Formats: sequence, structure tokens, C-alpha cells
Amino acid sequence: SGVEQLGEMIAEASAIVPFTGAGISTESGIPDFRSPGGLWTRNRPIPFDEFVANPDARDESWRRRFAMEPTFAAARPGRGHRALASLYKAGKIPAIVTQNIDNLHQMSGFAADHVVELHGNTTYARCIGCGRAYELPWVRQRFDTTGAAPDCADCEEPVKTATISFGQAMPEDAMRRATELAQQCDLFLAIGSSLVVWPAAGFPLLAKNNGARLVIINNEPTEQDDIADLVIRHDIGETLGPFVGN
Ligand code: OAD
Ligand code: ZN
Repeated sequence: SGVEQLGEMIAEASAIVPFTGAGISTESGIPDFRSPGGLWTRNRPIPFDEFVANPDARDESWRRRFAMEPTFAAARPGRGHRALASLYKAGKIPAIVTQNIDNLHQMSGFAADHVVELHGNTTYARCIGCGRAYELPWVRQRFDTTGAAPDCADCEEPVKTATISFGQAMPEDAMRRATELAQQCDLFLAIGSSLVVWPAAGFPLLAKNNGARLVIINNEPTEQDDIADLVIRHDIGETLGPFVGN
């Protein structure tokens, strides 16, 4: 079966690079973007230029984030996260590349240094001018006191979740590291992503073009199934559960 073949490929590999999307975190109670009920089926994304230009868009963006806070705060790593953390502890995974912003790979046991976040992290905030980091409770307190999204205490530019919005520049260091990892691995695992958002979706192809085997694990077809060596169209928790160690 697919899972047996995956087991063989993992056993044979010496440098596995997982590349994760929102589908790995649905088991943890966090909705994905494009499935029925996904975030982009309920809310239109707020593009970066709109966040910058429009105070109402900033307020709306923060109201959405606060509404999600109980979900993010309660989320714990699922079987997919834990299986990858087991392979990492066993020395099979040098680092993980993720489009996710939920911090669950770090929570599952990956060193922060070994989580390459292409779309940032929603568990803290940053000034879009000077980059100063802020804790979310600081933002919340300011929002509740003034009724509006706060600006940076240093430079007065808007404070935003430390995530990458559509139209916002990709983080250079993360792009460079993801490129190196995709080029150097011998097994690339694309897990729980529809593989439609670029430039992130370029990494499976890059790995494949550099000689890695490519496995796609996703319960629905993805944009890149046709270039994969193995497609497992099944639930991630069930597929990776057998690889959770102790
Ligand atoms: P998507 O919502 O586009 O894709 C998630 C995929 O995971 C879907 O194909 C689901 O069918 C699948 N899935 C969900 N739960 C699953 C499960 N338990 N087992 C197996 N498959 C499951 O999410 P991403 O591909 O991560 O970026 O989205 C990419 C980017 O689009 C995000 O990083 C975000 C979004 O806009 C930005 O906001 C910049
Ligand atoms: Zn600032």
C-alpha cells in the first residue's frame, strides 16, 4: 500500500525534508484555507497593501485574529506533527519547511532554528516598519483600550501579526534556506497542501528536479500529483500515525 511504500522510502532516505500546509493542522482543530469550511471560504484574504493603506482593514484583520485566538491557544500537535518530530529526533530530517503559521512544529519538538517558516508565524506580532516584535496580549490590550489596531511604540508604523499576507514580500532568509533544503534532500514530503500558492509551491518541483523522490500526502488531489513518485490520497494523521515514535 501507499503507507508501506512510504515506510520503505523513509527507511532508504538520509535527508528527508517535509513541506507542510494547513492540512497537517486540521487534526489539531485549526481550519485550513480551501477545503469546505476553510478560512478563505468564509473570509476574503486582506492583501498587504490594503492592510497598510486602510485603518479599517487593520482593525478587521486584528478582529479576525482575536476571534481565532481560542483555537490557536488550544491547538496541540497532531499525529502528523508528532511523526515528523520523531523522524527529526532520529536524525532523518535536517529541517522542516512549512507554510503554516501556527507554531505546532516547534511545539512538537523541532528546534525553532530547524523550522523554516515561509509565511511567518501568527503567535506574535511585528511592526511592518522597523520589525520590532510584540506579544499578542500587548496588541489586544491596546486594541481594547483605544478601539483600534495599534501602531509601533518606536516608529508609529502599523503592527501586524508576524505572518506574510498576499502581496507582502517573502522572507528572504526562509526562501534561501528552503531552496537549499529542497536542493539537498533525497526525499521531499509535501503534506497537507493544495500546492497552489506560489512561490511556496515551487519547492516540491525544485526538489524533484534536483533528484529527490517526491511524495504527496493529501486527502484531495493537488496541483502537482502528476510529478510525484508517490501520491497518498488519504488522511494525514492516519497515514503518519505509524511513524510516531516515543
Ligand atoms: P489549503 O487549504 O489550500 O490546502 C490544504 C489541503 O489539505 C487541502 O487540499 C485539504 O483537502 C487537505 N487536508 C485537510 N485536512 C487534511 C487531513 N486531515 N488529511 C489529509 N489532507 C487534509 O492550505 P495550504 O496549501 O497550506 O498563505 O495553503 C497555502 C497558503 O494559502 C497558506 O499558507 C496561506 C493561504 O493563503 C498565506 O496566507 C500567504
Ligand atoms: Zn516600528
